[in-house]
Amino acid sequence: MPKTKVSAVTRERLLRAARRVMKNAYAPFSKFRVGAAILTSKGRVFTGCNVENSSYGMTNCAERTAIFSAVAKDGPELEIVAVAVVAASEIDHKVPCSPCGACRQVIYEFGPRAVIFYQGDKGPKQSLITELLPEGFRLK
Ligand code: THU
Repeated sequence: MPKTKVSAVTRERLLRAARRVMKNAYAPFSKFRVGAAILTSKGRVFTGCNVENSSYGMTNCAERTAIFSAVAKDGPELEIVAVAVVAASEIDHKVPCSPCGACRQVIYEFGPRAVIFYQGDKGPKQSLITELLPEGFRLK
């Protein structure tokens, strides 16, 4: 399977979009704001932020907000090429944040070859979804 390649210009465009939407996060409980941007195979970009809830388990991560919004806007044929994730805490504007386990599975559903850009412990990182989620589950 050929590796997905995304240009530096596209990567920066996605990270910029993720940073912009991060400002809309509803995170009064964790104070941990997250923004995500996805690039689809049609060349479109969709964004999402985390939306928390007083009933904590109802919280929706930024990545899933972006993906669900893409399906709602563009239909179920969604193919994710790349995902950018950024996060900020109360004190720090660039905190490490890779997609959580649940979001990895949701990304895999629509982008088994997707490349993920995120902030690692030692700076910016890039991984394939299959590196973050080996043996991802799919019914088809
Ligand atoms: N969060 C995301 O939005 N994406 C992730 O990949 C990790 C966690 C959110 C959920 C919650 O609102 C906050 O970060 C703290 O867990």
